[in-house]
Amino acid sequence: MFKNYKVDFETACVHAGVGEYEFHPVVPPIYQTSTFAFESAQQGSALFAGEQKGYIYTRMLNPTVQAMEDAVAELEGGHKALGCGSGMAAVHTIFAALTKSGDHVVCSTAVYGPTATLLKNIMAKFGVETTFVDTTKLDETAKAMKQNTKVVFIETPGNPTLAITDIEETAKIAHKSGAKLVVDNTFMSPALQKPFELGADVIMHSMTKFLNGHADVVGGIIVVKDEQAYLDFRKVLNQLGGVIDPFNSFLVHRGIKTLSIRMQKHCENAIKVAKFLEENPKIKWVSYPGLKSHPQYAVGLKQHKDFGGMIAFELKGGYEAGTILLNNVKICSLAVSLGGVETLIQHPASMTHYSLGKEAREEAGISDGLIRISVGIENAADIINDLEEALGKI
Ligand SMILES: Cc1ncc(COP(=O)(O)O)c(C=O)c1O
Repeated sequence: MFKNYKVDFETACVHAGVGEYEFHPVVPPIYQTSTFAFESAQQGSALFAGEQKGYIYTRMLNPTVQAMEDAVAELEGGHKALGCGSGMAAVHTIFAALTKSGDHVVCSTAVYGPTATLLKNIMAKFGVETTFVDTTKLDETAKAMKQNTKVVFIETPGNPTLAITDIEETAKIAHKSGAKLVVDNTFMSPALQKPFELGADVIMHSMTKFLNGHADVVGGIIVVKDEQAYLDFRKVLNQLGGVIDPFNSFLVHRGIKTLSIRMQKHCENAIKVAKFLEENPKIKWVSYPGLKSHPQYAVGLKQHKDFGGMIAFELKGGYEAGTILLNNVKICSLAVSLGGVETLIQHPASMTHYSLGKEAREEAGISDGLIRISVGIENAADIINDLEEALGKI
Protein backbone atom coordinates (compact mmCIF):
# COMPACT_ATOMS: atom_id res chain seq x y z
CA MET A 1 0.00 0.00 0.00
CA PHE A 2 2.47 2.62 1.20
CA LYS A 3 5.94 1.45 0.21
CA ASN A 4 8.34 1.36 3.19
CA TYR A 5 5.66 2.87 5.40
CA LYS A 6 3.94 0.75 8.02
CA VAL A 7 0.43 1.81 8.97
CA ASP A 8 -2.15 0.71 11.53
CA PHE A 9 -5.05 -1.62 10.61
CA GLU A 10 -7.54 1.30 10.68
CA THR A 11 -5.48 3.17 8.08
CA ALA A 12 -4.98 0.01 6.05
CA CYS A 13 -8.76 -0.50 5.83
CA VAL A 14 -9.13 2.89 4.15
CA HIS A 15 -6.20 2.59 1.74
CA ALA A 16 -5.56 -1.11 1.07
CA GLY A 17 -5.81 -2.22 -2.54
CA VAL A 18 -6.05 1.27 -3.99
CA GLY A 19 -3.61 1.57 -6.91
CA GLU A 20 -2.72 4.10 -9.60
CA TYR A 21 -5.31 4.69 -12.32
CA GLU A 22 -5.77 7.06 -15.26
CA PHE A 23 -7.06 10.48 -14.04
CA HIS A 24 -5.96 9.64 -10.45
CA PRO A 25 -9.32 8.73 -8.87
CA VAL A 26 -9.06 8.04 -5.12
CA VAL A 27 -11.35 5.03 -5.54
CA PRO A 28 -10.58 2.20 -8.01
CA PRO A 29 -12.82 2.55 -11.10
CA ILE A 30 -15.37 -0.16 -11.93
CA TYR A 31 -14.05 -1.96 -15.00
CA GLN A 32 -17.45 -3.31 -15.99
CA THR A 33 -16.23 -5.32 -18.94
CA SER A 34 -16.18 -9.02 -19.67
CA THR A 35 -13.13 -8.90 -21.91
CA PHE A 36 -10.05 -6.77 -22.69
CA ALA A 37 -8.86 -6.00 -26.25
CA PHE A 38 -5.29 -7.01 -27.10
CA GLU A 39 -2.91 -4.51 -28.67
CA SER A 40 -1.87 -7.16 -31.19
CA ALA A 41 -2.07 -10.89 -31.87
CA GLN A 42 1.42 -11.18 -30.40
CA GLN A 43 0.38 -9.44 -27.19
CA GLY A 44 -2.69 -11.70 -26.89
CA SER A 45 -0.59 -14.82 -27.14
CA ALA A 46 2.04 -13.40 -24.74
CA LEU A 47 -0.70 -12.72 -22.17
CA PHE A 48 -2.08 -16.25 -22.49
CA ALA A 49 1.41 -17.73 -22.24
CA GLY A 50 1.99 -15.73 -19.04
CA GLU A 51 5.00 -13.98 -20.63
CA GLN A 52 3.36 -10.60 -20.16
CA LYS A 53 1.20 -9.25 -17.32
CA GLY A 54 -2.22 -7.82 -18.15
CA TYR A 55 -5.91 -8.53 -18.34
CA ILE A 56 -7.53 -10.99 -20.74
CA TYR A 57 -11.02 -11.90 -19.59
CA THR A 58 -12.90 -11.01 -16.39
CA ARG A 59 -13.35 -14.61 -15.22
CA MET A 60 -9.54 -14.85 -15.23
CA LEU A 61 -8.76 -11.43 -13.68
CA ASN A 62 -10.23 -7.94 -13.66
CA PRO A 63 -8.65 -4.76 -12.21
CA THR A 64 -11.63 -3.87 -9.97
CA VAL A 65 -11.78 -7.41 -8.62
CA GLN A 66 -8.02 -7.45 -8.16
CA ALA A 67 -8.05 -4.16 -6.21
CA MET A 68 -10.53 -5.67 -3.73
CA GLU A 69 -8.53 -8.94 -3.58
CA ASP A 70 -5.34 -6.98 -2.82
CA ALA A 71 -7.15 -5.14 -0.03
CA VAL A 72 -8.33 -8.34 1.68
CA ALA A 73 -4.93 -10.05 1.21
CA GLU A 74 -3.23 -7.09 2.83
CA LEU A 75 -5.63 -6.91 5.78
CA GLU A 76 -5.23 -10.65 6.43
CA GLY A 77 -1.44 -10.43 6.12
CA GLY A 78 -1.52 -12.86 3.19
CA HIS A 79 0.29 -12.96 -0.15
CA LYS A 80 -2.69 -12.72 -2.51
CA ALA A 81 -6.43 -13.35 -2.52
CA LEU A 82 -9.02 -14.75 -4.92
CA GLY A 83 -12.49 -13.20 -5.08
CA CYS A 84 -15.36 -15.70 -5.39
CA GLY A 85 -19.03 -15.33 -6.25
CA SER A 86 -20.09 -16.40 -2.74
CA GLY A 87 -18.65 -17.84 0.44
CA MET A 88 -19.80 -21.26 -0.76
CA ALA A 89 -17.96 -20.79 -4.09
CA ALA A 90 -14.85 -20.15 -1.98
CA VAL A 91 -15.46 -23.30 0.09
CA HIS A 92 -15.97 -25.40 -3.05
CA THR A 93 -12.87 -23.96 -4.74
CA ILE A 94 -10.77 -24.71 -1.65
CA PHE A 95 -11.79 -28.37 -1.51
CA ALA A 96 -11.51 -28.80 -5.29
CA ALA A 97 -7.99 -27.35 -5.15
CA LEU A 98 -6.68 -29.16 -2.08
CA THR A 99 -8.23 -32.62 -2.37
CA LYS A 100 -8.67 -35.47 -4.82
CA SER A 101 -10.51 -38.79 -4.76
CA GLY A 102 -9.22 -40.94 -1.88
CA ASP A 103 -8.31 -37.98 0.33
CA HIS A 104 -9.71 -37.24 3.77
CA VAL A 105 -10.86 -34.01 5.44
CA VAL A 106 -11.34 -33.18 9.13
CA CYS A 107 -13.99 -30.52 9.68
CA SER A 108 -15.52 -28.84 12.75
CA THR A 109 -19.06 -29.93 13.59
CA ALA A 110 -19.87 -26.24 14.23
CA VAL A 111 -19.67 -24.88 10.69
CA TYR A 112 -22.08 -23.11 8.38
CA GLY A 113 -24.67 -25.76 7.37
CA PRO A 114 -23.98 -25.79 3.60
CA THR A 115 -20.20 -26.16 4.23
CA ALA A 116 -20.97 -29.43 6.02
CA THR A 117 -23.49 -30.55 3.39
CA LEU A 118 -21.08 -29.72 0.55
CA LEU A 119 -18.55 -32.06 2.15
CA LYS A 120 -21.17 -34.73 2.87
CA ASN A 121 -23.01 -34.64 -0.43
CA ILE A 122 -20.77 -33.23 -3.15
CA MET A 123 -17.18 -33.90 -2.10
CA ALA A 124 -18.18 -37.41 -0.92
CA LYS A 125 -19.57 -38.09 -4.41
CA PHE A 126 -16.08 -37.38 -5.78
CA GLY A 127 -14.40 -39.73 -3.29
CA VAL A 128 -13.37 -37.24 -0.59
CA GLU A 129 -14.31 -38.51 2.86
CA THR A 130 -14.88 -36.17 5.83
CA THR A 131 -14.75 -36.76 9.57
CA PHE A 132 -16.68 -34.15 11.54
CA VAL A 133 -15.32 -33.52 15.01
CA ASP A 134 -15.80 -31.10 17.86
CA THR A 135 -12.59 -29.20 17.11
CA THR A 136 -12.84 -27.32 20.41
CA LYS A 137 -11.45 -30.61 21.79
CA LEU A 138 -7.91 -30.83 20.43
CA ASP A 139 -7.51 -34.51 21.29
CA GLU A 140 -10.57 -35.32 19.14
CA THR A 141 -9.04 -33.46 16.19
CA ALA A 142 -5.74 -35.30 16.67
CA LYS A 143 -7.60 -38.64 16.88
CA ALA A 144 -9.49 -37.94 13.64
CA MET A 145 -6.32 -37.36 11.59
CA LYS A 146 -5.51 -40.09 9.06
CA GLN A 147 -2.58 -40.74 6.74
CA ASN A 148 -4.61 -39.35 3.84
CA THR A 149 -5.93 -36.24 5.67
CA LYS A 150 -5.18 -33.29 3.40
CA VAL A 151 -7.28 -30.55 4.98
CA VAL A 152 -8.39 -29.56 8.46
CA PHE A 153 -11.22 -27.05 8.05
CA ILE A 154 -12.33 -24.96 11.01
CA GLU A 155 -14.69 -22.09 11.47
CA THR A 156 -14.02 -20.11 14.63
CA PRO A 157 -16.14 -18.89 16.27
CA GLY A 158 -18.30 -21.59 14.70
CA ASN A 159 -21.73 -21.16 13.25
CA PRO A 160 -24.17 -20.88 15.02
CA THR A 161 -23.03 -22.01 18.49
CA LEU A 162 -20.00 -19.66 18.67
CA ALA A 163 -17.79 -22.60 19.69
CA ILE A 164 -14.16 -21.48 19.61
CA THR A 165 -11.39 -23.66 18.19
CA ASP A 166 -7.76 -23.02 19.13
CA ILE A 167 -6.23 -22.02 15.78
CA GLU A 168 -2.57 -22.27 16.84
CA GLU A 169 -2.88 -25.74 18.39
CA THR A 170 -5.04 -27.03 15.52
CA ALA A 171 -2.43 -25.80 13.02
CA LYS A 172 0.20 -27.87 14.87
CA ILE A 173 -2.01 -30.99 14.69
CA ALA A 174 -2.72 -30.48 10.98
CA HIS A 175 0.92 -29.82 10.09
CA LYS A 176 2.16 -32.85 12.05
CA SER A 177 0.16 -35.01 9.60
CA GLY A 178 1.14 -32.96 6.54
CA ALA A 179 -2.37 -31.48 6.20
CA LYS A 180 -3.26 -27.85 5.54
CA LEU A 181 -5.28 -25.79 8.00
CA VAL A 182 -8.08 -23.77 6.41
CA VAL A 183 -9.81 -21.19 8.63
CA ASP A 184 -13.19 -19.67 7.85
CA ASN A 185 -12.61 -16.23 9.40
CA THR A 186 -16.04 -14.86 8.49
CA PHE A 187 -17.30 -14.26 12.05
CA MET A 188 -14.31 -12.27 13.31
CA SER A 189 -12.86 -10.67 10.15
CA PRO A 190 -9.19 -9.60 10.05
CA ALA A 191 -10.09 -6.65 12.29
CA LEU A 192 -10.35 -9.07 15.23
CA GLN A 193 -8.54 -12.28 14.29
CA LYS A 194 -5.45 -13.02 12.17
CA PRO A 195 -5.32 -16.77 11.44
CA PHE A 196 -2.05 -16.58 9.43
CA GLU A 197 -0.25 -15.31 12.54
CA LEU A 198 -1.50 -18.43 14.32
CA GLY A 199 -0.31 -20.92 11.70
CA ALA A 200 -3.24 -21.23 9.25
CA ASP A 201 -2.38 -22.03 5.62
CA VAL A 202 -5.50 -20.70 3.91
CA ILE A 203 -8.14 -18.20 5.09
CA MET A 204 -11.58 -17.84 3.62
CA HIS A 205 -14.54 -15.54 4.18
CA SER A 206 -18.08 -15.16 3.18
CA MET A 207 -17.62 -11.50 2.19
CA THR A 208 -21.41 -11.31 2.24
CA LYS A 209 -20.95 -10.71 5.98
CA PHE A 210 -18.63 -8.37 7.89
CA LEU A 211 -16.12 -7.63 5.10
CA ASN A 212 -18.77 -6.01 2.93
CA GLY A 213 -20.92 -5.19 5.95
CA HIS A 214 -23.97 -3.69 4.23
CA ALA A 215 -26.11 -6.73 3.33
CA ASP A 216 -26.10 -5.81 -0.37
CA VAL A 217 -23.54 -8.23 -1.83
CA VAL A 218 -23.04 -12.00 -1.98
CA GLY A 219 -19.34 -12.78 -2.25
CA GLY A 220 -16.49 -14.91 -0.95
CA ILE A 221 -12.72 -14.82 -0.81
CA ILE A 222 -9.76 -17.15 -0.41
CA VAL A 223 -6.49 -15.74 0.96
CA VAL A 224 -3.21 -17.59 0.47
CA LYS A 225 0.34 -17.22 1.76
CA ASP A 226 2.52 -17.79 -1.31
CA GLU A 227 2.61 -17.47 -5.09
CA GLN A 228 2.44 -21.21 -5.81
CA ALA A 229 -0.75 -21.57 -3.74
CA TYR A 230 -2.16 -18.52 -5.52
CA LEU A 231 -1.46 -19.97 -8.98
CA ASP A 232 -2.92 -23.35 -7.99
CA PHE A 233 -6.12 -21.82 -6.59
CA ARG A 234 -6.43 -19.39 -9.52
CA LYS A 235 -6.33 -22.27 -12.00
CA VAL A 236 -9.10 -24.14 -10.14
CA LEU A 237 -11.25 -21.02 -9.63
CA ASN A 238 -10.88 -20.13 -13.30
CA GLN A 239 -12.05 -23.60 -14.31
CA LEU A 240 -14.89 -23.86 -11.78
CA GLY A 241 -15.90 -20.33 -12.68
CA GLY A 242 -17.26 -19.21 -9.32
CA VAL A 243 -15.78 -15.71 -9.55
CA ILE A 244 -17.08 -12.40 -8.19
CA ASP A 245 -18.01 -9.63 -10.64
CA PRO A 246 -16.50 -6.11 -10.80
CA PHE A 247 -19.48 -4.26 -9.35
CA ASN A 248 -19.80 -6.49 -6.29
CA SER A 249 -16.02 -6.26 -5.83
CA PHE A 250 -16.31 -2.47 -5.88
CA LEU A 251 -19.03 -2.60 -3.20
CA VAL A 252 -17.01 -4.94 -0.98
CA HIS A 253 -13.92 -2.74 -1.39
CA ARG A 254 -16.03 0.26 -0.36
CA GLY A 255 -17.38 -1.65 2.65
CA ILE A 256 -13.86 -2.59 3.76
CA LYS A 257 -12.97 1.08 4.27
CA THR A 258 -15.20 1.11 7.38
CA LEU A 259 -14.42 -2.45 8.54
CA SER A 260 -12.34 -1.39 11.52
CA ILE A 261 -14.80 1.16 12.84
CA ARG A 262 -17.82 -1.08 12.16
CA MET A 263 -16.26 -4.00 14.03
CA GLN A 264 -15.59 -1.76 17.04
CA LYS A 265 -19.29 -0.82 17.16
CA HIS A 266 -20.49 -4.41 16.56
CA CYS A 267 -18.37 -5.53 19.53
CA GLU A 268 -19.43 -2.62 21.74
CA ASN A 269 -23.12 -3.36 21.10
CA ALA A 270 -22.88 -7.16 21.23
CA ILE A 271 -21.37 -7.32 24.71
CA LYS A 272 -24.21 -5.11 26.00
CA VAL A 273 -26.85 -7.26 24.29
CA ALA A 274 -25.20 -10.49 25.53
CA LYS A 275 -25.12 -9.24 29.13
CA PHE A 276 -28.77 -8.13 28.88
CA LEU A 277 -29.79 -11.57 27.57
CA GLU A 278 -27.73 -13.39 30.21
CA GLU A 279 -29.62 -11.56 32.96
CA ASN A 280 -33.09 -12.01 31.47
CA PRO A 281 -35.12 -14.64 33.41
CA LYS A 282 -36.67 -16.06 30.22
CA ILE A 283 -33.26 -17.07 28.80
CA LYS A 284 -31.76 -20.49 29.50
CA TRP A 285 -28.23 -19.85 28.28
CA VAL A 286 -26.27 -17.33 26.17
CA SER A 287 -23.19 -18.06 24.08
CA TYR A 288 -21.03 -15.03 23.31
CA PRO A 289 -17.22 -15.13 23.15
CA GLY A 290 -17.03 -12.06 25.42
CA LEU A 291 -18.92 -13.64 28.33
CA LYS A 292 -16.81 -15.34 30.99
CA SER A 293 -19.39 -18.15 30.94
CA HIS A 294 -18.36 -19.06 27.35
CA PRO A 295 -16.70 -22.50 27.59
CA GLN A 296 -13.72 -21.43 25.45
CA TYR A 297 -13.44 -17.86 26.81
CA ALA A 298 -9.73 -18.36 27.61
CA VAL A 299 -8.92 -19.71 24.12
CA GLY A 300 -10.70 -16.72 22.59
CA LEU A 301 -8.61 -14.29 24.62
CA LYS A 302 -5.47 -15.83 23.07
CA GLN A 303 -6.57 -15.44 19.48
CA HIS A 304 -9.01 -12.60 18.96
CA LYS A 305 -8.71 -8.91 19.77
CA ASP A 306 -12.38 -8.43 20.68
CA PHE A 307 -15.43 -10.67 20.74
CA GLY A 308 -17.39 -9.93 17.57
CA GLY A 309 -21.04 -9.24 16.81
CA MET A 310 -22.57 -12.74 16.93
CA ILE A 311 -24.62 -14.14 19.82
CA ALA A 312 -26.46 -17.46 20.23
CA PHE A 313 -28.97 -18.15 23.00
CA GLU A 314 -31.82 -20.39 24.00
CA LEU A 315 -35.07 -19.44 25.68
CA LYS A 316 -36.40 -21.47 28.60
CA GLY A 317 -39.61 -21.89 26.62
CA GLY A 318 -37.72 -23.54 23.70
CA TYR A 319 -38.74 -23.12 20.08
CA GLU A 320 -42.34 -22.03 20.87
CA ALA A 321 -41.07 -19.11 22.96
CA GLY A 322 -38.49 -18.41 20.23
CA THR A 323 -41.17 -17.99 17.58
CA ILE A 324 -42.98 -15.44 19.76
CA LEU A 325 -39.73 -13.50 20.08
CA LEU A 326 -38.98 -13.71 16.34
CA ASN A 327 -42.49 -12.60 15.40
CA ASN A 328 -42.46 -9.61 17.74
CA VAL A 329 -39.10 -7.88 17.17
CA LYS A 330 -39.28 -4.58 15.28
CA ILE A 331 -35.74 -3.21 14.99
CA CYS A 332 -34.11 -6.63 14.67
CA SER A 333 -35.00 -8.05 11.24
CA LEU A 334 -36.07 -11.67 11.06
CA ALA A 335 -33.56 -12.72 8.40
CA VAL A 336 -30.67 -15.11 7.84
CA SER A 337 -27.14 -13.88 7.06
CA LEU A 338 -25.07 -11.73 9.39
CA GLY A 339 -22.37 -9.11 9.64
CA GLY A 340 -24.31 -6.18 8.20
CA VAL A 341 -24.91 -2.83 9.86
CA GLU A 342 -28.45 -3.90 10.75
CA THR A 343 -29.31 -6.34 13.55
CA LEU A 344 -30.61 -9.68 12.24
CA ILE A 345 -32.22 -12.48 14.22
CA GLN A 346 -32.92 -16.03 13.03
CA HIS A 347 -33.63 -19.63 14.05
CA PRO A 348 -30.81 -21.93 12.78
CA ALA A 349 -32.66 -25.28 13.22
CA SER A 350 -35.38 -24.25 10.77
CA MET A 351 -33.27 -21.87 8.65
CA THR A 352 -29.45 -21.76 8.14
CA HIS A 353 -28.82 -25.25 9.54
CA TYR A 354 -32.05 -26.96 8.43
CA SER A 355 -30.20 -28.79 5.62
CA LEU A 356 -28.00 -30.62 8.17
CA GLY A 357 -30.86 -32.73 9.57
CA LYS A 358 -31.74 -33.14 13.27
CA GLU A 359 -29.08 -35.73 14.12
CA ALA A 360 -26.17 -33.70 12.74
CA ARG A 361 -27.57 -30.57 14.37
CA GLU A 362 -27.66 -32.31 17.74
CA GLU A 363 -24.04 -33.47 17.25
CA ALA A 364 -23.09 -29.86 16.51
CA GLY A 365 -24.89 -28.60 19.63
CA ILE A 366 -27.64 -26.83 17.64
CA SER A 367 -30.74 -27.31 19.76
CA ASP A 368 -34.21 -26.67 18.34
CA GLY A 369 -34.55 -23.66 20.63
CA LEU A 370 -31.29 -21.93 19.64
CA ILE A 371 -31.69 -18.36 18.36
CA ARG A 372 -28.84 -16.48 16.62
CA ILE A 373 -28.44 -12.72 16.58
CA SER A 374 -26.08 -10.71 14.42
CA VAL A 375 -25.82 -7.48 16.39
CA GLY A 376 -25.72 -4.42 14.14
CA ILE A 377 -24.35 -0.93 14.66
CA GLU A 378 -27.61 0.74 15.71
CA ASN A 379 -27.92 2.31 19.16
CA ALA A 380 -27.40 -0.52 21.68
CA ALA A 381 -30.28 0.64 23.92
CA ASP A 382 -32.67 0.52 20.95
CA ILE A 383 -31.68 -3.08 20.18
CA ILE A 384 -32.03 -4.08 23.83
CA ASN A 385 -35.42 -2.34 24.21
CA ASP A 386 -36.67 -4.11 21.09
CA LEU A 387 -35.59 -7.51 22.47
CA GLU A 388 -36.98 -6.71 25.93
CA GLU A 389 -40.39 -5.80 24.53
CA ALA A 390 -40.53 -8.90 22.32
CA LEU A 391 -39.39 -11.12 25.22
CA GLY A 392 -42.18 -9.57 27.27
CA LYS A 393 -44.72 -11.11 24.87
CA ILE A 394 -43.66 -14.64 25.86
C1 LIG B 1 -19.27 -18.71 8.46
C2 LIG B 1 -19.85 -18.77 7.09
N1 LIG B 1 -19.10 -19.31 6.10
C3 LIG B 1 -19.58 -19.41 4.83
C4 LIG B 1 -20.84 -18.97 4.51
C5 LIG B 1 -21.34 -19.07 3.09
O1 LIG B 1 -21.28 -17.82 2.51
P1 LIG B 1 -22.25 -17.33 1.31
O2 LIG B 1 -23.62 -17.27 1.86
O3 LIG B 1 -21.65 -16.00 0.96
O4 LIG B 1 -22.11 -18.32 0.22
C6 LIG B 1 -21.64 -18.40 5.50
C7 LIG B 1 -22.99 -17.91 5.17
O5 LIG B 1 -23.80 -17.62 6.04
C8 LIG B 1 -21.13 -18.30 6.82
O6 LIG B 1 -21.86 -17.79 7.82
